[in-house]
Amino acid sequence: MTDESKEIQAQKREMPEPYEGNRPVPWIVILIVAGLFVWAIGYLYVTYQPVPPEYGDQRIAADFKSASGSEGGKVDGAQLYAAHCVACHQATGGGLPGVFPPLAKSEWVTGKASTTVQIVLHGVHGPLTVEGTTYNGLMPTFKDKLSDAEIAAVVSHIRTSFGNDAGEVDENLVASERAATASHEAPWNGDEELNALK
Ligand code: HEC
Repeated sequence: MTDESKEIQAQKREMPEPYEGNRPVPWIVILIVAGLFVWAIGYLYVTYQPVPPEYGDQRIAADFKSASGSEGGKVDGAQLYAAHCVACHQATGGGLPGVFPPLAKSEWVTGKASTTVQIVLHGVHGPLTVEGTTYNGLMPTFKDKLSDAEIAAVVSHIRTSFGNDAGEVDENLVASERAATASHEAPWNGDEELNALK
């Protein structure tokens, strides 16, 4: 036996190289899953019913529109107060002693309506006396954030809530107050400027 044929025999004894198994998903499984998928969509399609509002809390889409005040309805001052003022002046309108002045019984809220509107339009900065206590904080401006109707609604809300009874404010008043102080950039300088508007 030559060296060469010895080598070939040795090669023939070797097991073949192993290779990685490959077991495809059986067709029957793919067919079953696809069938279930089609059936499920068909089932939803055939059995779909719009849920009548009686099954839930009785509200229909139109109820939400009027609640948000965006369509025809009145702007909700209480809602605006909760969104823009409550963090500082608190839900009770009592403010936070020494930090945020109260709106309840405040002379700035129950006094001249145009002054309250000006405070909300431009904000206040510097010493401000409210109910005999001097505050020195920063009340933000709302002239770019709230529309005339919204400012009228929130001012009306604070003038008629928290035990206040000062009457509502008209959108037109806000519009004319806004126009009259359109060039005013900085917040009102506390008592110094606001006493003149009282
Ligand atoms: C970031 C806190 C903050 C927010 C928000 C805020 N205020 Fe004020 N507000 C103040 C501070 C502070 C003062 C006092 C300013 C000073 O000391 O110069 C004040 C003063 C006032 C005053 C005059 C003083 C008084 O207590 O009567 C009114 C009126 C008022 N705010 C109404 C509002 C309304 C309405 C909103 C919401 C649209 C509002 N504020 C949102 C902090 C805030």
